[in-house]
Amino acid sequence: MCNYFIFYLIQMSNTIFTVWSIVLLCTLYFTQPTSGLNYESNCIPTNTISFCDTDKFLECIDYSCNCNSTMNWDRIQNKCGINVGQACVLAPNEGDPPCYGTAVCQENSGNPVCTCVAPDYPAENGEFCIHLVDTAGSNCRNLGVSCNAEKQLACRGSSCLCNPGWEDYRGNCYASFNTTCVSGSVIPHENCFDAFGLECSEETGRCECGLPEDEVWGEFNDFGFFLCQRKVGAVCNDSLDEFFDLHCVNTALCKKPSEDAPSPICVCPPGWIPSLDRLKCVPEVVLEYGENCTIRGNTHACNRDKNLRCLCGDTHCNCACGTGLSPSAAGVCHAGFESPCKIGDEAEDHLTCLDEAFLKCDDNSAQFYDYRKQKCVLKVTEECDPAGVGDPRYIQCPATSTCRQIQDRHLCWCMQTYFPTGDLTSCQSSSVGTKLTHGDACNDWDYKRYCPEYFNNLFCVNSTCQCPEGGYSFDGVYCYADYGTACNTSSTLPKDTCNYRRFLECSPTRDTCICRSSFVYEPEIGREACFFKLNSTCDMKPDLCVANAFCYSINPDATSGSCQCKEGYRPGDGDEYAICIPEYETPSTPKPSTSTQENSANALHNYISTILLVLIASSALYFR
Ligand SMILES: *[C@@H]1O[C@H](CO)[C@@H](O)[C@H](O)[C@H]1NC(C)=O
Ligand SMILES: *[C@@H]1O[C@H](CO)[C@@H](O)[C@H](O)[C@H]1NC(C)=O
Ligand SMILES: *[C@@H]1O[C@H](CO)[C@@H](O)[C@H](O)[C@H]1NC(C)=O
Ligand SMILES: *[C@@H]1O[C@H](CO)[C@@H](O)[C@H](O)[C@H]1NC(C)=O
Ligand SMILES: *[C@@H]1O[C@H](CO)[C@@H](O)[C@H](O)[C@H]1NC(C)=O
Ligand SMILES: *[C@@H]1O[C@H](CO)[C@@H](O)[C@H](O)[C@H]1NC(C)=O
Ligand SMILES: *[C@@H]1O[C@H](CO)[C@@H](O)[C@H](O)[C@H]1NC(C)=O
Repeated sequence: MCNYFIFYLIQMSNTIFTVWSIVLLCTLYFTQPTSGLNYESNCIPTNTISFCDTDKFLECIDYSCNCNSTMNWDRIQNKCGINVGQACVLAPNEGDPPCYGTAVCQENSGNPVCTCVAPDYPAENGEFCIHLVDTAGSNCRNLGVSCNAEKQLACRGSSCLCNPGWEDYRGNCYASFNTTCVSGSVIPHENCFDAFGLECSEETGRCECGLPEDEVWGEFNDFGFFLCQRKVGAVCNDSLDEFFDLHCVNTALCKKPSEDAPSPICVCPPGWIPSLDRLKCVPEVVLEYGENCTIRGNTHACNRDKNLRCLCGDTHCNCACGTGLSPSAAGVCHAGFESPCKIGDEAEDHLTCLDEAFLKCDDNSAQFYDYRKQKCVLKVTEECDPAGVGDPRYIQCPATSTCRQIQDRHLCWCMQTYFPTGDLTSCQSSSVGTKLTHGDACNDWDYKRYCPEYFNNLFCVNSTCQCPEGGYSFDGVYCYADYGTACNTSSTLPKDTCNYRRFLECSPTRDTCICRSSFVYEPEIGREACFFKLNSTCDMKPDLCVANAFCYSINPDATSGSCQCKEGYRPGDGDEYAICIPEYETPSTPKPSTSTQENSANALHNYISTILLVLIASSALYFR
């Protein structure tokens, strides 16, 4: 309805003012205030809904709530106040307006009127009093009020405040440290802040600490105010009187060095030593993140440069990060994930201050925050930097994945038998994948179709599922390390396992696959394997005795026997006692490789095992 009315008026009138008033009236008519309208609010004179706040003595004048002609809006009392010279009520009730500003209701020739009280005097227009504020902190928004510049006060915002370089102490402004002063002056505003130990230096004409040798201007703990503090070693007094300058610099304690000392001096707490300039106590040993610490008074020895604090649990205290901070790999505390931040602030560990002013990971779609590690981490399948793996300056893949090449890029990737979780924050063990077999085509990064490294020792080499390169052979199921291939006794990887089916074992001293103790290796082409030594218990079939020997048993039906030299051969001498040599040959011809050291160690081992077995067997019989 209103819209049509305005439209009609725009057609009729070309004066903007008229249109504006109608818009205003429409707006006011259709809005319903819950209480009276405030000073300078728009109003309609006769409207009983949009009325001006009568508790504040406001009236609707020219569509605006205002004070009538005998009053002015008092910003301090937040209501209309009666002008100077106008009638007032000596003992006003709630419903009676007060005098404006600093004017006072006084009887003048029998009539109570608002009057200025000396030193205040009426302004030229006679409406209010001219008032000079001498006290810091007083309101200065009313008409006629000014802050006393001689007392170093100026109106800032709504209050009289001390000028820069001047300190408000109990309402007075005192010259602070390094402010120019007049030496010997007794006028308060030229006085230095003596309550906090400052004196006017005749030399410099500036406020300085009274004892430059023994005092320094510093902030009192973290309280935001400054004072002259006693340096370490200076006489002090920590009683809580007005003379704060007798207090020690932060971290130092005011103590008598001995029982009979005449007065206390500033000393460092145990484990702390004075800095060279005596301005503070520094820990003898600065503690780093995680180290045990102790709290003495307000002090601790944790590295403050790294924002460390000494935080205590039930049993002991550690140097740690305070609330909202988290440690970097270098043990530096900084604002952590989702803690408030300022745009543009530096943040570590790949955190960024986002628009909503909370720290988030640099890239919220490719990264997530690992609360346990207190770090931003890449999601699985995201691009990673292979040069930065393990380096705290680089963002890392989740622990269950590795940074590896996938075609032409490096990505955080699951290892075989592991699959990415739905939210891509980790890889989970899974039996979903397909195990390939020897000779199958493969991609080494494909965790879905993979060569079973851990089960069969099959690896994806040259896009084919096969044994690892260098000295392995496939026996139909597994790939085994051959004689002489590198191995590792302390590793459980199949790659490091020698082929026990071929009587190989890993030599702990040489880290290669060798024959077990009752076997000897024969390198002749076509034989290259471990064979039973002479006298070893052997199987009749297959006969695996050393060259020129055979598996012999007196009983022709036996399945096992012992290796004996064939006719025309005899056991070798010394090192070669386990093999057969031609009857009339001297024992210096080429011989199969064996290791005396290895064999004697193994012989001892076998000897001990045999004794143990015999002991176990006999005790079993005894206790039967
Ligand atoms: C102004 O308002 C006050 C209080 O509401 C009243 O006493 C006074 O007479 C009014 N003055 C004029 C000029 O209307
Ligand atoms: C004192 O103020 C002067 C002038 O502003 C300045 O050059 C000087 O460095 C200040 N001295 C100290 C100790 O702050
Ligand atoms: C420290 O100051 C208080 C109060 O001014 C005084 O009573 C006390 O004797 C002073 N102590 C010393 C050791 O000077
Ligand atoms: C800290 O102190 C506790 C209790 O005395 C002790 O068990 C712990 O090993 C200490 N830690 C370090 C880092 O010294
Ligand atoms: C893989 O391919 C390279 C180059 O064709 C070749 O030199 C190497 O012997 C191959 N390795 C295996 C295990 O087949
Ligand atoms: C053997 O394996 C262990 C455990 O996996 C490893 O720490 C060690 O470095 C390996 N030794 C050699 C010589 O490869
Ligand atoms: C093999 O057994 C025979 C007969 O018991 C013995 O004389 C010989 O020393 C043994 N040889 C070896 C190498 O143990």
